[in-house]
Amino acid sequence: MTLLVTGGAGFIGSNFVLDRLSRSDERIVNLDLLTYAGNPANLAALAGDERHVLIKGDICDAALLERLFATERPRAVLHFAAESHVDRSIHGPGAFIRTNVDGTYTLLEAARAYVAGQDDAARTAFRFVHVSTDEVYGSLSPGEPAFNETRRYEPNSPYSASKAASDHLARAWHHTYGLPVIITNCSNNYGPYQFPEKLIPLMIVNALAGRALPVYGDGMQVRDWLYVGDHCAALARVLEAGRPGTVYNIGGCNEKPNLEIVHTLCALLDEMAPRADRSSHAQLITHVADRPGHDRRYAVDAGRIAAELGWQPAETFTSGIRKTVAWYLDNQAWVAAVQSGAYRDWVATNYEARGLNGGAA
Ligand code: NAD
Ligand code: DAU
Repeated sequence: MTLLVTGGAGFIGSNFVLDRLSRSDERIVNLDLLTYAGNPANLAALAGDERHVLIKGDICDAALLERLFATERPRAVLHFAAESHVDRSIHGPGAFIRTNVDGTYTLLEAARAYVAGQDDAARTAFRFVHVSTDEVYGSLSPGEPAFNETRRYEPNSPYSASKAASDHLARAWHHTYGLPVIITNCSNNYGPYQFPEKLIPLMIVNALAGRALPVYGDGMQVRDWLYVGDHCAALARVLEAGRPGTVYNIGGCNEKPNLEIVHTLCALLDEMAPRADRSSHAQLITHVADRPGHDRRYAVDAGRIAAELGWQPAETFTSGIRKTVAWYLDNQAWVAAVQSGAYRDWVATNYEARGLNGGAA
């Protein structure tokens, strides 16, 4: 049996592949374009492991997908591949429409053609798990109930609009063609191998280098944080027992404002990697210009996946964030390797536009 994973060299995909192969011998074919966010070093522990095949390729390449389905004959697709960073989508939305919308369409079509050639049993057993985000639901006011699966879509950024479009395609391919699609909408993940353009790794990496910790606006925007291993466990349950045609929201039931996250990271670093002069890393916190159209609050109601599939997060925020800081401290060579010229160019573009002159680069 084989799983086809897309985007399995990125943050969540690589955590999924590593976790899965530590628990199962099922073969994984990992299709990843290896963009700036895809890093084969995340999968270094699998070198020489015949259960894992990494293929550099594009989900927009229909001929490649047709060949892959024909030769690998996967029993399921786990579709992680995407452009995933909101700030980059504001600077350059085109890549998001291409990969997230056209790429998902191309993958759905390839899966549909492949499944049509299967016998009844294989067709029924096949799964297409479309990994999506809570950002498709838009922004919550204080006190509003958390997003459940029937919440209206109100995407506000080019990223979330492109993911919303991909969700609609995935839903339609189930409804119209009977492709056994399951959609998951998850909250903010954190943990090992997250590229340091996202809030938590960026703050750790900058704090260790003594650089400014750029907080957008007042820093009181709220996100619902989930340890990446818990997201992977949820996806494994969905693959195993999720109902085709169903949406499952996944979240940590752990809402926190950004400023609190940054102070927590500073306190952990003060303890685990104190500065030479013993001053707190919190002195580096710098408020910068806000993200345009910044969503104020996300919160996820994960009641359906808990009730139907028995999934609950295993990690608390206290345990998960400590593990995460420890991972970045123990893997500074990984961090140094991803901070290429292209990374520095991005940091300069994003933070100089927010009034931080070279301070975050
Ligand atoms: P990531 O940016 O770290 O990784 C994305 C991966 O997709 C990279 O390996 C990249 O090389 C690959 N990729 C990009 N374009 C491709 C293409 N055209 N063809 C093949 N591969 C391509 O993203 P992530 O944070 O791991 O997110 C994975 C998925 O989970 C995304 O679909 C994202 O929308 C969703 N998600 C992320 C979060 C989060 O907090 N990070 C939360 C909820 C949902
Ligand atoms: O909610 C799920 C989504 O979470 C995923 O779909 C996205 O792929 C993922 O990137 C993430 O989106 P966010 O925009 O919430 O994540 P990010 O880490 O970019 O930002 C988290 C919050 O921190 C957000 O309110 C913006 C703020 N922020 C971010 C950066 C990079 C800062 O204040 N300063 C920063 O430098």
